[in-house]
Amino acid sequence: MFTATCVAPVNMALVKYWGKRNEELILPINDSISMTLDANEMCAKTTVAASESFKENRMWLNGDEQPFQANARLQRCLDGVQRLALAHGGAHRFPLSWKVHIASHNNFPTAAGLASSAAGYACLVYTLARLYDVPLDEQLTTIARQGSGSACRSLYGGFVQWQRGSSADGSDSIAVQLSPATHWPNMHMLILVVNDARKKTGSTSGMQRAVETSALIQHRATQVVPQRSKELKVAIEKRDFNAFATITMKESNQLHAIALDTFPPCVYMNDVSHSIVNFVHEYNEEAGSLHVAYTFDAGPNGCLYVLDEHVPHLLAAIQLAFPNDAQQSVEYLKGIPVPAV
Ligand code: DP6
Repeated sequence: MFTATCVAPVNMALVKYWGKRNEELILPINDSISMTLDANEMCAKTTVAASESFKENRMWLNGDEQPFQANARLQRCLDGVQRLALAHGGAHRFPLSWKVHIASHNNFPTAAGLASSAAGYACLVYTLARLYDVPLDEQLTTIARQGSGSACRSLYGGFVQWQRGSSADGSDSIAVQLSPATHWPNMHMLILVVNDARKKTGSTSGMQRAVETSALIQHRATQVVPQRSKELKVAIEKRDFNAFATITMKESNQLHAIALDTFPPCVYMNDVSHSIVNFVHEYNEEAGSLHVAYTFDAGPNGCLYVLDEHVPHLLAAIQLAFPNDAQQSVEYLKGIPVPAV
Protein backbone atom coordinates (compact mmCIF):
# COMPACT_ATOMS: atom_id res chain seq x y z
CA MET A 1 0.00 0.00 0.00
CA PHE A 2 1.16 3.56 -0.75
CA THR A 3 -0.13 6.55 1.20
CA ALA A 4 0.23 10.32 1.34
CA THR A 5 -1.12 12.82 3.90
CA CYS A 6 -1.21 16.61 3.49
CA VAL A 7 -2.89 19.67 4.97
CA ALA A 8 -4.21 22.63 2.96
CA PRO A 9 -5.36 25.95 4.36
CA VAL A 10 -8.46 28.01 3.74
CA ASN A 11 -8.23 31.06 1.52
CA MET A 12 -10.52 34.06 1.76
CA ALA A 13 -11.36 36.02 -1.39
CA LEU A 14 -10.67 39.75 -1.51
CA VAL A 15 -11.82 40.13 -5.12
CA LYS A 16 -14.63 37.61 -5.34
CA TYR A 17 -15.19 34.77 -7.77
CA TRP A 18 -18.92 34.68 -8.48
CA GLY A 19 -20.24 33.23 -11.73
CA LYS A 20 -19.04 30.61 -14.21
CA ARG A 21 -18.71 30.74 -17.98
CA ASN A 22 -18.44 26.93 -18.08
CA GLU A 23 -20.16 24.93 -15.34
CA GLU A 24 -18.45 21.63 -16.04
CA LEU A 25 -14.87 22.83 -16.30
CA ILE A 26 -15.49 25.46 -13.60
CA LEU A 27 -14.31 28.46 -15.59
CA PRO A 28 -15.05 31.83 -13.98
CA ILE A 29 -16.46 34.97 -15.56
CA ASN A 30 -13.86 37.11 -13.77
CA ASP A 31 -10.46 37.01 -12.08
CA SER A 32 -10.35 36.70 -8.29
CA ILE A 33 -7.71 37.46 -5.66
CA SER A 34 -7.43 35.92 -2.21
CA MET A 35 -5.33 35.62 0.89
CA THR A 36 -4.44 32.16 2.19
CA LEU A 37 -4.40 31.50 5.92
CA ASP A 38 -1.79 29.70 7.92
CA ALA A 39 -2.12 25.94 7.38
CA ASN A 40 -2.07 25.46 11.16
CA GLU A 41 -5.25 27.46 11.62
CA MET A 42 -8.23 26.58 9.44
CA CYS A 43 -7.30 23.65 7.25
CA ALA A 44 -8.31 20.40 5.65
CA LYS A 45 -6.23 17.27 6.24
CA THR A 46 -6.40 14.45 3.75
CA THR A 47 -4.89 10.99 3.56
CA VAL A 48 -5.00 9.00 0.34
CA ALA A 49 -4.07 5.35 0.20
CA ALA A 50 -3.69 3.27 -2.98
CA SER A 51 -3.65 -0.49 -2.81
CA GLU A 52 -3.85 -3.48 -5.11
CA SER A 53 -6.39 -5.01 -2.73
CA PHE A 54 -8.92 -2.12 -2.83
CA LYS A 55 -11.99 -3.12 -4.84
CA GLU A 56 -13.29 0.41 -5.52
CA ASN A 57 -12.51 4.08 -4.98
CA ARG A 58 -13.97 5.30 -1.66
CA MET A 59 -14.04 8.61 0.20
CA TRP A 60 -14.81 9.69 3.77
CA LEU A 61 -15.39 13.30 4.84
CA ASN A 62 -15.11 13.96 8.58
CA GLY A 63 -15.65 10.23 9.16
CA ASP A 64 -18.77 9.85 6.98
CA GLU A 65 -18.53 7.93 3.74
CA GLN A 66 -19.45 9.99 0.66
CA PRO A 67 -20.71 8.53 -2.63
CA PHE A 68 -17.63 8.48 -4.87
CA GLN A 69 -19.01 7.44 -8.25
CA ALA A 70 -21.85 9.99 -8.06
CA ASN A 71 -19.44 12.82 -7.35
CA ALA A 72 -18.31 14.08 -10.76
CA ARG A 73 -15.98 16.71 -9.23
CA LEU A 74 -14.14 14.13 -7.16
CA GLN A 75 -13.80 11.84 -10.15
CA ARG A 76 -12.51 14.69 -12.32
CA CYS A 77 -9.83 15.54 -9.76
CA LEU A 78 -8.65 11.94 -9.58
CA ASP A 79 -8.67 11.57 -13.39
CA GLY A 80 -6.91 14.93 -13.76
CA VAL A 81 -4.04 14.12 -11.41
CA GLN A 82 -3.63 10.66 -12.96
CA ARG A 83 -3.48 12.28 -16.41
CA LEU A 84 -0.75 14.64 -15.19
CA ALA A 85 1.10 11.68 -13.69
CA LEU A 86 1.15 10.00 -17.11
CA ALA A 87 2.20 13.24 -18.80
CA HIS A 88 5.13 13.64 -16.40
CA GLY A 89 6.68 10.46 -17.73
CA GLY A 90 5.23 8.32 -14.97
CA ALA A 91 7.87 7.69 -12.31
CA HIS A 92 5.03 5.67 -10.85
CA ARG A 93 5.62 3.57 -7.79
CA PHE A 94 2.46 1.56 -8.49
CA PRO A 95 -0.02 1.02 -11.37
CA LEU A 96 -2.55 3.82 -11.94
CA SER A 97 -5.26 1.15 -12.04
CA TRP A 98 -4.98 0.64 -8.27
CA LYS A 99 -8.04 2.00 -6.45
CA VAL A 100 -7.77 4.72 -3.81
CA HIS A 101 -9.30 5.33 -0.40
CA ILE A 102 -9.49 8.99 0.65
CA ALA A 103 -10.13 10.30 4.16
CA SER A 104 -10.48 14.04 4.69
CA HIS A 105 -11.12 16.15 7.80
CA ASN A 106 -11.85 19.86 8.23
CA ASN A 107 -11.06 21.59 11.51
CA PHE A 108 -13.79 24.20 10.89
CA PRO A 109 -17.49 24.23 9.95
CA THR A 110 -18.26 22.68 6.57
CA ALA A 111 -20.35 24.62 4.03
CA ALA A 112 -21.08 27.58 6.31
CA GLY A 113 -19.40 30.10 4.04
CA LEU A 114 -16.00 29.41 5.53
CA ALA A 115 -14.38 28.21 2.33
CA SER A 116 -14.39 24.56 3.33
CA SER A 117 -14.61 23.30 -0.25
CA ALA A 118 -11.58 25.41 -1.19
CA ALA A 119 -9.36 23.81 1.45
CA GLY A 120 -10.94 20.38 0.90
CA TYR A 121 -10.37 20.12 -2.84
CA ALA A 122 -6.98 21.85 -2.69
CA CYS A 123 -5.94 19.28 -0.12
CA LEU A 124 -7.35 16.36 -2.10
CA VAL A 125 -5.58 17.38 -5.30
CA TYR A 126 -2.30 18.16 -3.55
CA THR A 127 -2.35 14.84 -1.67
CA LEU A 128 -3.10 12.92 -4.88
CA ALA A 129 -0.24 14.81 -6.53
CA ARG A 130 2.12 13.67 -3.78
CA LEU A 131 0.92 10.11 -4.12
CA TYR A 132 1.46 10.07 -7.90
CA ASP A 133 4.64 12.20 -7.88
CA VAL A 134 3.14 15.14 -9.74
CA PRO A 135 4.80 18.54 -9.09
CA LEU A 136 2.91 21.59 -7.85
CA ASP A 137 2.62 23.92 -10.81
CA GLU A 138 -0.05 25.84 -12.69
CA GLN A 139 -1.34 22.65 -14.31
CA LEU A 140 -2.18 21.28 -10.89
CA THR A 141 -4.19 24.41 -10.13
CA THR A 142 -6.37 23.68 -13.18
CA ILE A 143 -7.23 20.31 -11.61
CA ALA A 144 -8.04 21.78 -8.18
CA ARG A 145 -10.21 24.35 -9.96
CA GLN A 146 -12.37 21.51 -11.29
CA GLY A 147 -13.03 20.30 -7.74
CA SER A 148 -14.18 23.72 -6.56
CA GLY A 149 -13.24 26.97 -8.25
CA SER A 150 -11.85 28.69 -5.18
CA ALA A 151 -9.74 25.59 -4.37
CA CYS A 152 -7.14 26.49 -7.00
CA ARG A 153 -6.15 29.52 -4.88
CA SER A 154 -5.50 27.39 -1.77
CA LEU A 155 -2.60 25.58 -3.47
CA TYR A 156 -0.44 28.63 -2.78
CA GLY A 157 0.20 30.64 0.36
CA GLY A 158 0.09 34.42 0.70
CA PHE A 159 -1.75 36.47 -1.90
CA VAL A 160 -3.02 34.54 -4.90
CA GLN A 161 -4.77 35.42 -8.13
CA TRP A 162 -6.99 33.05 -10.07
CA GLN A 163 -6.79 34.24 -13.65
CA ARG A 164 -10.03 33.91 -15.56
CA GLY A 165 -8.28 32.81 -18.75
CA SER A 166 -9.91 32.91 -22.16
CA SER A 167 -9.43 29.50 -23.78
CA ALA A 168 -12.46 27.23 -24.04
CA ASP A 169 -10.64 24.23 -22.57
CA GLY A 170 -9.67 26.12 -19.41
CA SER A 171 -5.94 25.50 -19.82
CA ASP A 172 -5.15 29.17 -19.06
CA SER A 173 -7.58 29.48 -16.14
CA ILE A 174 -4.88 29.05 -13.51
CA ALA A 175 -3.92 30.30 -10.07
CA VAL A 176 -0.66 32.20 -9.55
CA GLN A 177 0.97 33.47 -6.39
CA LEU A 178 1.18 37.28 -6.31
CA SER A 179 3.35 37.41 -3.21
CA PRO A 180 4.19 35.06 -0.35
CA ALA A 181 2.72 35.61 3.12
CA THR A 182 6.06 37.02 4.31
CA HIS A 183 5.53 40.01 2.02
CA TRP A 184 2.96 41.48 4.44
CA PRO A 185 3.74 39.74 7.73
CA ASN A 186 1.77 42.11 9.99
CA MET A 187 -1.50 41.42 8.13
CA HIS A 188 -3.99 39.49 10.25
CA MET A 189 -7.35 37.97 9.59
CA LEU A 190 -9.94 37.64 12.31
CA ILE A 191 -12.99 35.47 11.72
CA LEU A 192 -16.25 36.29 13.43
CA VAL A 193 -18.28 33.12 13.48
CA VAL A 194 -21.84 34.37 13.38
CA ASN A 195 -23.43 31.09 12.46
CA ASP A 196 -21.86 27.78 11.56
CA ALA A 197 -25.02 26.16 10.25
CA ARG A 198 -25.06 24.92 6.65
CA LYS A 199 -26.05 27.72 4.27
CA LYS A 200 -29.40 27.59 2.46
CA THR A 201 -28.14 28.22 -1.06
CA GLY A 202 -24.66 26.90 -1.72
CA SER A 203 -22.14 28.95 -3.72
CA THR A 204 -22.45 26.70 -6.76
CA SER A 205 -26.20 27.12 -7.21
CA GLY A 206 -26.19 30.72 -5.94
CA MET A 207 -23.72 31.87 -8.57
CA GLN A 208 -25.40 29.81 -11.29
CA ARG A 209 -28.71 31.50 -10.55
CA ALA A 210 -26.94 34.88 -10.50
CA VAL A 211 -25.50 34.32 -13.99
CA GLU A 212 -28.97 33.35 -15.23
CA THR A 213 -30.98 36.15 -13.62
CA SER A 214 -28.87 39.07 -12.36
CA ALA A 215 -28.87 42.11 -14.60
CA LEU A 216 -25.76 43.42 -12.82
CA ILE A 217 -23.40 40.46 -12.88
CA GLN A 218 -22.01 40.90 -16.41
CA HIS A 219 -21.37 44.59 -15.72
CA ARG A 220 -19.45 43.56 -12.61
CA ALA A 221 -17.41 40.93 -14.48
CA THR A 222 -16.44 43.14 -17.40
CA GLN A 223 -16.50 46.71 -16.04
CA VAL A 224 -15.67 46.48 -12.34
CA VAL A 225 -13.48 43.50 -11.50
CA PRO A 226 -10.66 44.06 -14.06
CA GLN A 227 -9.90 47.53 -12.66
CA ARG A 228 -10.29 46.44 -9.03
CA SER A 229 -7.98 43.47 -9.54
CA LYS A 230 -5.31 45.78 -10.95
CA GLU A 231 -5.71 48.21 -8.05
CA LEU A 232 -5.67 45.48 -5.42
CA LYS A 233 -2.47 44.01 -6.85
CA VAL A 234 -0.81 47.42 -6.52
CA ALA A 235 -2.19 47.84 -2.96
CA ILE A 236 -0.76 44.45 -1.97
CA GLU A 237 2.56 45.20 -3.63
CA LYS A 238 2.86 48.53 -1.79
CA ARG A 239 1.34 47.19 1.45
CA ASP A 240 -1.16 50.04 1.18
CA PHE A 241 -3.75 49.07 3.81
CA ASN A 242 -6.05 51.96 2.99
CA ALA A 243 -6.47 50.92 -0.66
CA PHE A 244 -6.54 47.22 0.31
CA ALA A 245 -9.37 47.84 2.80
CA THR A 246 -11.43 50.02 0.46
CA ILE A 247 -11.33 47.51 -2.41
CA THR A 248 -11.96 44.53 -0.11
CA MET A 249 -15.05 46.04 1.51
CA LYS A 250 -16.49 47.26 -1.80
CA GLU A 251 -15.95 43.79 -3.28
CA SER A 252 -17.80 42.14 -0.41
CA ASN A 253 -20.66 44.60 -0.75
CA GLN A 254 -20.90 44.05 -4.49
CA LEU A 255 -20.98 40.26 -4.12
CA HIS A 256 -23.97 40.58 -1.79
CA ALA A 257 -25.62 43.18 -4.04
CA ILE A 258 -25.41 40.69 -6.91
CA ALA A 259 -26.77 37.97 -4.62
CA LEU A 260 -29.78 40.20 -3.87
CA ASP A 261 -30.15 41.05 -7.56
CA THR A 262 -30.49 37.31 -8.23
CA PHE A 263 -34.03 36.05 -8.72
CA PRO A 264 -35.20 34.62 -6.36
CA PRO A 265 -32.61 36.48 -4.26
CA CYS A 266 -29.85 34.80 -2.29
CA VAL A 267 -29.56 36.23 1.20
CA TYR A 268 -26.30 35.22 2.84
CA MET A 269 -25.74 37.95 5.42
CA ASN A 270 -27.95 38.25 8.49
CA ASP A 271 -28.59 41.04 11.01
CA VAL A 272 -25.39 40.28 12.92
CA SER A 273 -23.41 40.39 9.67
CA HIS A 274 -24.85 43.83 8.90
CA SER A 275 -24.09 45.05 12.39
CA ILE A 276 -20.47 43.94 11.85
CA VAL A 277 -20.37 46.06 8.68
CA ASN A 278 -21.71 49.07 10.58
CA PHE A 279 -19.32 48.44 13.42
CA VAL A 280 -16.31 48.45 11.06
CA HIS A 281 -17.34 51.69 9.36
CA GLU A 282 -17.92 53.41 12.71
CA TYR A 283 -14.65 52.04 14.08
CA ASN A 284 -12.72 53.40 11.09
CA GLU A 285 -14.52 56.74 11.36
CA GLU A 286 -13.42 57.07 14.97
CA ALA A 287 -9.88 55.98 14.16
CA GLY A 288 -9.68 58.70 11.51
CA SER A 289 -8.44 56.27 8.84
CA LEU A 290 -9.06 52.71 7.71
CA HIS A 291 -7.76 50.37 10.40
CA VAL A 292 -9.96 47.39 9.64
CA ALA A 293 -11.74 45.88 6.61
CA TYR A 294 -14.49 43.26 6.38
CA THR A 295 -15.40 40.66 3.84
CA PHE A 296 -18.26 38.15 3.72
CA ASP A 297 -18.41 35.10 1.46
CA ALA A 298 -21.60 33.17 0.76
CA GLY A 299 -22.59 33.04 4.41
CA PRO A 300 -23.15 35.27 7.45
CA ASN A 301 -19.68 34.92 9.00
CA GLY A 302 -17.45 37.96 8.86
CA CYS A 303 -13.73 38.10 8.13
CA LEU A 304 -11.87 41.14 9.33
CA TYR A 305 -8.46 42.24 8.06
CA VAL A 306 -6.36 44.26 10.45
CA LEU A 307 -2.69 45.08 10.93
CA ASP A 308 -0.81 43.75 13.94
CA GLU A 309 -0.56 47.08 15.74
CA HIS A 310 -4.34 47.56 15.74
CA VAL A 311 -5.33 44.06 16.87
CA PRO A 312 -5.58 44.60 20.67
CA HIS A 313 -7.67 47.75 20.34
CA LEU A 314 -9.94 46.15 17.72
CA LEU A 315 -10.47 43.02 19.81
CA ALA A 316 -11.45 45.09 22.84
CA ALA A 317 -13.92 47.09 20.74
CA ILE A 318 -15.42 43.89 19.28
CA GLN A 319 -15.89 42.42 22.72
CA LEU A 320 -17.67 45.57 23.80
CA ALA A 321 -19.88 45.78 20.69
CA PHE A 322 -20.69 42.07 20.52
CA PRO A 323 -20.59 40.67 24.05
CA ASN A 324 -20.64 36.90 24.08
CA ASP A 325 -23.85 36.77 26.07
CA ALA A 326 -25.76 38.93 23.59
CA GLN A 327 -28.81 37.32 22.12
CA GLN A 328 -27.13 36.87 18.76
CA SER A 329 -23.63 36.25 19.91
CA VAL A 330 -20.48 36.41 17.88
CA GLU A 331 -17.82 33.84 18.61
CA TYR A 332 -14.20 34.48 17.92
CA LEU A 333 -12.09 31.82 16.40
CA LYS A 334 -10.06 30.75 19.44
CA GLY A 335 -10.65 34.24 20.82
CA ILE A 336 -7.59 35.52 19.05
CA PRO A 337 -6.81 36.84 15.60
CA VAL A 338 -5.90 34.26 13.05
CA PRO A 339 -2.50 35.11 11.61
CA ALA A 340 -2.58 35.61 7.89
CA VAL A 341 0.61 33.69 7.31
C1 DP6 B 1 -18.15 33.49 -2.33
O1 DP6 B 1 -15.47 27.83 -5.13
O2 DP6 B 1 -17.29 27.27 -3.49
O3 DP6 B 1 -16.37 32.05 -1.69
O4 DP6 B 1 -16.63 26.56 -7.93
O5 DP6 B 1 -19.04 26.09 -7.55
O6 DP6 B 1 -17.32 25.04 -6.06
P1 DP6 B 1 -17.69 26.25 -6.92
O7 DP6 B 1 -17.83 27.48 -5.93
P2 DP6 B 1 -16.89 27.95 -4.75
O8 DP6 B 1 -17.31 29.49 -4.67
C2 DP6 B 1 -16.68 30.39 -3.81
C3 DP6 B 1 -17.39 31.69 -3.84
C4 DP6 B 1 -16.94 32.70 -2.80
C5 DP6 B 1 -15.98 33.71 -3.39
C6 DP6 B 1 -14.56 33.25 -3.63
O9 DP6 B 1 -14.05 32.38 -2.89
O10 DP6 B 1 -13.92 33.84 -4.52
